[in-house]
Amino acid sequence: MRKQTGFFLAIVMALSVLGYAFSANPSEAAASSKTFEPPGKGDYPPGPLGALVKQGEEIFTNTREAVPGYRGNALTCASCHLDQGRKPYAAPMWGAYPMYPMVDPKTRKTVWLEDRIRMCFRNALNAAPPDKETVQALDAYIFWLSRGAPIGHELKGRGYVTIASPDRETGFFRGPGHLRSPDTLKGFGLYAKSCASCHGRSGQGGLHRSPPLWGPSSYTMKSGFASVPLLAEFLRRNMPPGEDRQLTDQESLDIAAYVDSQPRPRGKVPPGN
Ligand code: HEC
Ligand code: HEC
Repeated sequence: MRKQTGFFLAIVMALSVLGYAFSANPSEAAASSKTFEPPGKGDYPPGPLGALVKQGEEIFTNTREAVPGYRGNALTCASCHLDQGRKPYAAPMWGAYPMYPMVDPKTRKTVWLEDRIRMCFRNALNAAPPDKETVQALDAYIFWLSRGAPIGHELKGRGYVTIASPDRETGFFRGPGHLRSPDTLKGFGLYAKSCASCHGRSGQGGLHRSPPLWGPSSYTMKSGFASVPLLAEFLRRNMPPGEDRQLTDQESLDIAAYVDSQPRPRGKVPPGN
């Protein structure tokens, strides 16, 4: 009996060491295998559904022009959900669709896909609540992008890559020793080197069709990107654009701290509060 327990313990220990080895560099591990492929661009369904999907795609990529009476900032959905919501690890829409409705573990409230769409309208686009037609067209577009995805299954490439984040209360890392707390000043230097060529030194965008990163036309303090760890996870795989110029975890955190130290709109109070 004692011998068996010892053997069992040894296996558990071996497994946890292996587990550590695999999780030590999750971004690299995830990058090596294939991710879900949404339908080809322009491969719309026939008839009225196709028309609705096209309308949703137009809203997703051209929000300002496509939504009647739109009053929001300079961003579109595709400014953050890259490649028209198709790119893995840039919170792709095919990763989201199969996961809703879900229960938020903190508030214990049921969250629908439509709620997420409205949240991004309010917090990311700083816009008034969209009308029913707008939400339905976006819903149809997201449905089409997810054609063939298994429902209720979290697909590889959903959301962003994970990088260790500092303790919320103290700001210090408790994770792997190679990371230190985000350094805004270092972020400033790195920003000038890797980002300013498109987004500008003053963060107002404009070059190479880049959107603003702070100021009155940017995302609000209530957006997910206003959180340094989350913005860092977006940057890690997505900015600057192109596979060959990826930032390290530390650079992503430092730059995110700099970008999020800049002024931006406070954000609207959700209706009903
Ligand atoms: C400023 C950047 C930004 C813009 C613009 C933006 N979003 Fe988002 N969106 C986010 C962030 C950040 C998240 C949270 C991702 C996470 O928690 O992993 C998110 C999450 C989502 C999700 C849920 C994703 C999931 O996997 O559960 C959906 C759906 C979504 N957005 C749709 C939209 C739509 C539609 C628009 C345009 C109306 C839009 N977003 C505009 C940043 C943005
Ligand atoms: C070659 C030009 C280029 C460079 C360099 C670049 N970006 Fe971007 N960035 C873009 C474009 C273009 C978009 C809009 C998404 C798209 O069209 O694919 C974008 C989108 C973004 C977004 C989401 C939308 C928004 O405005 O909030 C953030 C955040 C961002 N970039 C941050 C950065 C940071 C930080 C760096 C430096 C590490 C950087 N970018 C480097 C071109 C660039």
